[in-house]
Amino acid sequence: MAGARAIGSLPVPNVQELAKTCNGPDEHIPERYIRPEASSEEVISNYHGEAIPIIDLNKLLSPQSSEECVKLRSACQYWGFFQLINHGVPDEVIANLKRDIVDFFSQPLDAKKEYTQLPNSLEGYGQALVFSEDQKLDWADMLYLQVHPSDSRDLRFWPTSPASFRRSLDAYSSETKSLALCLFEFMAKAVGAKPEALLGIFEEQPQGLRMTYYPPCLQSDKVMGISPHSDVVGLTLLLQVNDVQGLQIKKDGKWLSVDAPNGAFIVNIGDTLEILSNGKFRSVEHRAVINPNKERISASLFHYPCENMVIRPLTEFVKDGKVNYRSISYLDFMTQFFTQQLDGKNRLEMLKLE
Ligand code: OGA
Ligand code: NI
Repeated sequence: MAGARAIGSLPVPNVQELAKTCNGPDEHIPERYIRPEASSEEVISNYHGEAIPIIDLNKLLSPQSSEECVKLRSACQYWGFFQLINHGVPDEVIANLKRDIVDFFSQPLDAKKEYTQLPNSLEGYGQALVFSEDQKLDWADMLYLQVHPSDSRDLRFWPTSPASFRRSLDAYSSETKSLALCLFEFMAKAVGAKPEALLGIFEEQPQGLRMTYYPPCLQSDKVMGISPHSDVVGLTLLLQVNDVQGLQIKKDGKWLSVDAPNGAFIVNIGDTLEILSNGKFRSVEHRAVINPNKERISASLFHYPCENMVIRPLTEFVKDGKVNYRSISYLDFMTQFFTQQLDGKNRLEMLKLE
């Protein structure tokens, strides 16, 4: 991620402010935000009666974990997403971070602007992956911060208001680091692979946090919160900061709404992990839609691999001898991601070997 630092995004209007000016049923929404696909593609609320799997970390840690391991394997192989309960991150740590994120976004624009992205920086308050004036825009603002290791933090972008923000984020980062490593370990074991190689790649655990504010829009069927994409990283832990749903994942060509229970993390596999696992784990396309009446806030904690590595299927996952993906250097992979607008899973498809 640090290597991709030199790459920034074009400045765009502040959507939280824009939403206030076009919040009527017939109000004009600027053309750059109009997304016909928001209402033209089919959305389902369950997949043959099923919602995304729920994995219980307590059960995985217990001596009788085999049933939960089977669920985890199926979640990684067929869904690419699961909800994680009994994850061990203290309620207070999560509640503090949620409160501070809500408080950050509810400040006046001038206060938030102190943390505006600088040219050629990914961090700060603004929007990501905008490269042309013609590009369609997402109905959201974000604050992105590099969180771990601590010497990668650029405190210019770390809010000092609310006063507890930095402390809350620091506590959240330490609590989630061990959780992510624990998940990598169980996921490898669930498909019969030794976890060491995977753990080695993620042990330094660069973490980045994207906090996204999705304003309400009465014409929510015309706009899109975050464009369809798969995450480039290893693993993402998504936290719904308020109780408004909006995440949808692609399942057999349809969009499936994800309803996350309060207190659960939504965990998803990124492109890097799909390649490392030689396709045993799936990185699944997803998007976020807008609520007509309520603001929505989410926080995605991305876990990146260590830098200076080549991303390629790990021997441990290629037991039948067939390598399914081309190798690519981490920096090239990240550079590709951060220089193109979000576009489903195309980037990953291009690395697939037939
Ligand atoms: C992301 C993402 C979805 C959401 O940040 O990569 O997919 O529900 N967010 O906010
Ligand atoms: Ni995502």
